[in-house]
Amino acid sequence: MEIRMEKLTKIFISKDKKEVRAVDNVDLTIPTGKLIGLLGPSGCGKSTTLYLIAGLLRQTEGHIYFDEDEVSEMPPEKRGIGLVFQNYALYPHMTVRENILFPLQNLKVEKEEAKQRTYEMAELVGLQEMLDRKPKELSGGQQQRVAIARALVKKPRVLLLDEPLSNLDARLRLQTREEIKRIQRETGITTVFVTHDQEEAMSISDEIVVMKDGLIQQMGEPQDVYDFPTNLFVAKFLGNPQINVFDGEIKNKKIYIDDMIVSETKFPDQKIIIGIRPEGFNIDAEEKSQLVFDVNLVETIGRDTTLIIDMPGQEAGLLDKKSFKVIVDASYRIGSGHKVHFTVKPDKMHLFDLNGELLK
Ligand SMILES: Nc1ncnc2c1ncn2[C@@H]1O[C@H](COP(=O)(O)OP(=O)(O)O)[C@@H](O)[C@H]1O
Ligand SMILES: [Mg+2]
Repeated sequence: MEIRMEKLTKIFISKDKKEVRAVDNVDLTIPTGKLIGLLGPSGCGKSTTLYLIAGLLRQTEGHIYFDEDEVSEMPPEKRGIGLVFQNYALYPHMTVRENILFPLQNLKVEKEEAKQRTYEMAELVGLQEMLDRKPKELSGGQQQRVAIARALVKKPRVLLLDEPLSNLDARLRLQTREEIKRIQRETGITTVFVTHDQEEAMSISDEIVVMKDGLIQQMGEPQDVYDFPTNLFVAKFLGNPQINVFDGEIKNKKIYIDDMIVSETKFPDQKIIIGIRPEGFNIDAEEKSQLVFDVNLVETIGRDTTLIIDMPGQEAGLLDKKSFKVIVDASYRIGSGHKVHFTVKPDKMHLFDLNGELLK
């Protein structure tokens, strides 16, 4: 089932009586049967968006549709949603079986059918052997899978997950994220997965939606958003290590960092911000290119070598750091203190105006 938000706005009044536009005039369509990662920094409006879809919050303005069915004024229990929060929120005194079964008790579901569905859900999340355990006898990842089973047992139309992996340690987070992906594929349920972790969103989602300050910045397949960011915020938010950001200038169809020519361009003369992914540099062994940096530090881990390069003299306001990172193949043998000539891979470089909007 498709979720469609039209001009959706949620305004909170903060303690000091200011308006907070937590969700700001959002037009967004979540396609049927897909897992969508809603991604952005803390406070950007992800949870608010989710709770508006769930009906736990009422929108200030705008509309929400589940397919052709307008649900904007519908109470949460009528919407047919399954919700999973960061803290598993299981009933500690109940067994896994009772926890999964619980949502069916208020419904008029026959006992036999309830039992059957509980088992099916436990099986779906791989916990059919653990039905008699209490939550505290399970790992965090298993508890979260119980929460997912409980959310799905009513056969909801959508599954909404709010940072479901945040309380898990790194290993369980990875494992459980694969599990969520599998469960979503097997059930085909339309799913919105909220996270502030770009890597998590990129790895699990069919499409990601990047939010900032209540506004949708960009939506698309993870690799497309990574490769074609529409603005500097998105470019910086996706990728680890982060994209390198330089002050730059276009003069006579050439792109400059300081007085070094990076490459040619079709854009007119102006000051710009240049983003280059860490993997976006080639080493110019013939040392012909004008882009030359002193390598300060070399770290080789496995296949990759990371060069750390100091970059003084750049506007601190644009550069987050005083140094930047270049990732090259470990077969290059480069020592600290070497002067290295680079060329830039055109598809790994993005040019922005001084407002951070992509040059077009
Ligand atoms: N109940 C509330 N009252 C006032 N402000 C709120 C409330 N809930 C959220 N906000 C504010 O709305 C903005 C978005 O919050 P939220 O949706 O929780 O962000 P996220 O989930 O992306 O971290 C934040 O500025 C937050 O402080
Ligand atoms: Mg949140």
